[in-house]
Amino acid sequence: MKVLVHIDGAEQWRDALAERLPEAEVMTSSAPAEQRREADYLAVWKPPEALLREPVALKGIVNLGAGVDALLNNPGLPEGVPIVKLRDAGMGELIGDYVRYAVLHFQRDFDRYRRQQHVRQWREHAVVDKADWPVGVLGLGAIGAKVAAMVAADGFPVHGWSRSAKRLSGITCHHGDAGLEALLVRVRTLVLLLPDTPATRQIIDARALARLPEGASLVNPGRGTLIDEVALLAALGPDDDAGSVGRLRGAILDAFPEEPLPEASPLWRHPRVWVTPHMAGPTPLGEAMDQVAEALRAFAAGKPQATVDPDAGY
Ligand code: GLV
Repeated sequence: MKVLVHIDGAEQWRDALAERLPEAEVMTSSAPAEQRREADYLAVWKPPEALLREPVALKGIVNLGAGVDALLNNPGLPEGVPIVKLRDAGMGELIGDYVRYAVLHFQRDFDRYRRQQHVRQWREHAVVDKADWPVGVLGLGAIGAKVAAMVAADGFPVHGWSRSAKRLSGITCHHGDAGLEALLVRVRTLVLLLPDTPATRQIIDARALARLPEGASLVNPGRGTLIDEVALLAALGPDDDAGSVGRLRGAILDAFPEEPLPEASPLWRHPRVWVTPHMAGPTPLGEAMDQVAEALRAFAAGKPQATVDPDAGY
């Protein structure tokens, strides 16, 4: 089996895969074109269009990330080739830590204290009990479910939402349009971990934001396309450092429709927005390559596991 790996720092990934799959010939995109053309499988993250078109008899693709939006939107993607993606692979725990930090940031008033520091104001706020701080998690895939469990383990009531019904221990699960409404009206921090699909694009629009309780906060380690940015800015209120806030108290954002976030974006300088550069869940190499090796063996045995549904988008 011939596998071509494409990702930043591909040599390290190639070596890790070769170690786990000694029966395979593993190369990177720096291999000569005639070798690249012979690849049976691709293990890739955001590959260039031309690379996807090269192999003459491609049998399968492993997406070296959890979200397949970039791959599915790539015009070079050959039709009918089965795709598998990483499932959690250690990303869930990293994103869980990011979300735990974000929830505590608002629940323990770090945003308010920062503003107070700017005016040298010494004033303590009463702590809202964790039990009175419901957290909503939209998206209950491998990562969303892990994050929901971590936040629940910290003592926060967690409401999860997915398109179709799910059951997760310790989480109040909602589904469908009515379930989304029911979740939005009761959460103080809303976390977005949905995939980018036609059905989820701008799911957080003016209407959804208006359903959130006054003073709610938003955390997005998922995909930037989930949010209508104009509505977000309107809900955050004026771009000043005063205590006056809009309906939305603040937003911690790791994902944006265009990355890097363009310099002109008003999000950069909004005092109640925290911008991080898509760092919440870097793919851990070891766990990822264990999954890739397993996926390639399953492909080779003619039994690819849990392939991506290109129409659903995940
Ligand atoms: C990162 O954003 C991923 O989808 O893995």
